[in-house]
Amino acid sequence: MSHWTESWRDFVKKTSYKHVLADEKISDDQFWRSYAVYDRILSYSGYPGAILQRISSFIPAGSTFLDIGAGTGAFALPVSRKTRRTVALDPSAYQLGVLREKAKEEGLNNITTLEKMWHYVGPGEIHGILDDGLDKNLVGGTGEVDYSLASYSLFDEDIVGFLQKMIDVSKKGAFIVFRAGEPEPLSEFAYGSKPFANYICLQHILADMGCEFCTEIFDRSYALPVDLALRQYRYSIKTQAELIDFLRAEGRLQEKDGALWASFATKDALLYLIH
Ligand SMILES: C[S@@+](CC[C@H](N)C(=O)[O-])C[C@H]1O[C@@H](n2cnc3c(N)ncnc32)[C@H](O)[C@@H]1O
Repeated sequence: MSHWTESWRDFVKKTSYKHVLADEKISDDQFWRSYAVYDRILSYSGYPGAILQRISSFIPAGSTFLDIGAGTGAFALPVSRKTRRTVALDPSAYQLGVLREKAKEEGLNNITTLEKMWHYVGPGEIHGILDDGLDKNLVGGTGEVDYSLASYSLFDEDIVGFLQKMIDVSKKGAFIVFRAGEPEPLSEFAYGSKPFANYICLQHILADMGCEFCTEIFDRSYALPVDLALRQYRYSIKTQAELIDFLRAEGRLQEKDGALWASFATKDALLYLIH
């Protein structure tokens, strides 16, 4: 195992939300069900914004698309406006339920949901879902979908297996979205210093696998109502009052329309491989 794959494994095990599942003895689905504000937080955060526009610009109308860890559909829903068929994969029934509800509201009927971890998807399974007789040359287990995406969903200790499978199923291109910046100071204060990984770790792992992805960086600055901001830190070792004091000391709190808002600045990296 290389230094980079080890760093990624440590990040997944000790820093990402997966460590909460182990500590609290809850499933992915229970975690996301108890964090139903996820979609509301996204709506304030300017995400997926410009990254979505960039990914969409690569995908011709009529393509097939696989969103790995689709969540509530931040990408799967808008991208499906131009795809022939989309598979939205996620281990959480709750997240996929929200996605299906939104697809129904938006009149999108070309999305199939698949409730699974990426690790457990078998050879030919994605092809089996997408096979509508229009693709004549598919070989089960390889080249099963035109484009795939994993956005903030690469939570697998076997990151090489995750990425290789994603690259293998994608006939025309693969997209990865992950954070580009430094650790969020509020997270370090809330949880203490933990193993950290950003897109550079993924770039090294992909290079070791012999895959040169292109990279683009996107900046986002936004404000969240402070109660929503603190929901992200509900497993913190600090009290809510301590978190608010920290934000205030950092000059990141402002009052607007009688409510308290916390400001955030973040960077996302888009890694992509287009054949
Ligand atoms: C932070 S959310 C991101 C959702 C969406 N991609 C977005 O950008 O808004 C992470 C999602 O990945 C899913 N997930 C976690 N581990 C996964 C895995 N090993 N395979 C597929 N999906 C996974 C979670 O259930 C969750 O819905």
